[in-house]
Amino acid sequence: MNHLDQLVQQATAEFAAAADGAQLEQAKARYLGKSGSLTEQLKALGKLAAEERREAGAAINRAKGAIESSLEARRQALREAALLEQLAAEALDVTLPGRGQGTGGLHPVSRTLERIEGLFRSIGFVVADGPEIETDWHNFTALNTPANHPARSMHDTFYLEGHDDVLLRTHTSPVQVREMLAHVERYKDLDTMPELRIIVPGRVYRVDSDATHSPMFHQAEGLWIGENVSFADLKGVIADFLRKFFESEDLQVRFRPSFFPFTEPSAEIDVAFMSGALEGRWLEIAGCGMVHPNVLRFGGFDPERYTGFAFGMGPDRLTMLRYGVNDLRLFFEGDLRFLSQFK
Ligand code: DAH
Repeated sequence: MNHLDQLVQQATAEFAAAADGAQLEQAKARYLGKSGSLTEQLKALGKLAAEERREAGAAINRAKGAIESSLEARRQALREAALLEQLAAEALDVTLPGRGQGTGGLHPVSRTLERIEGLFRSIGFVVADGPEIETDWHNFTALNTPANHPARSMHDTFYLEGHDDVLLRTHTSPVQVREMLAHVERYKDLDTMPELRIIVPGRVYRVDSDATHSPMFHQAEGLWIGENVSFADLKGVIADFLRKFFESEDLQVRFRPSFFPFTEPSAEIDVAFMSGALEGRWLEIAGCGMVHPNVLRFGGFDPERYTGFAFGMGPDRLTMLRYGVNDLRLFFEGDLRFLSQFK
């Protein structure tokens, strides 16, 4: 093999070894650059005799052409490799399943509270709320349950450390008193004062914990005070609400005599479903009664002029019945496997 063929072969090998464009251009300079091997050969032509020069020049030019075309081939190959690499890096697998958007949802008990609010709003009730840290006076005394009253022992109360007159409210009933006082304060003129109709959903607390009791649970308190509010109104409002809540026209509702210090007479409200797993079983759902005259007085209302009814129900229980959940604790553990079923 003559010298030029060797040069071509060597250049082709170096081009092939160049891993990218920059290395390739460096290799090119070693052969075709100003002082490249081939350029040096061309420069040397001048020293040859005229007849040798033609043949040698033609041979060098052939070698130059061969090196250039091998350079161009390598450039092309590197461009294609780069393109393939880019395509591979940007590849999309359109057959992969989508990631999806995790949408949240309302907690089942929140759904129930919203449902209760909506149904009572539709008959003219206003949603009210009160503090969860409550005074002994609002939680007990003003609800006709003075200190040492035996009914206090029915509520296992969380008291605040160092304050025996401040507690976590054991029921939503103290909001009755707060709202009564605010109402008479707002409408000083009794002759134009509108009726007081409130629904009070909220959290309450008792020292209690098992499958059907949680130290924190929910209640929804209702109160309607006016000049001619009767027990018949109470029965109508409650029965109508429950049938709408459970979307069941043949739901049975019964009022069973009971005792609460803040109502007289008092009753427990039971429901029975006419179909489903609980068919025919009476289930306790709320307490209620006509507001006791002492409570009206504590709230600033004259019991000779006004009457009213009140009720307190358990939205957690209503939620369990509506969705067929049998352990109250599931509502408060925050397990998404449970909660996501209600989205
Ligand atoms: N506050 C009662 C409780 O937690 C429930 C209750 C009963 C509320 C009768 C009322 C009522 O408003 O009239 O046990």
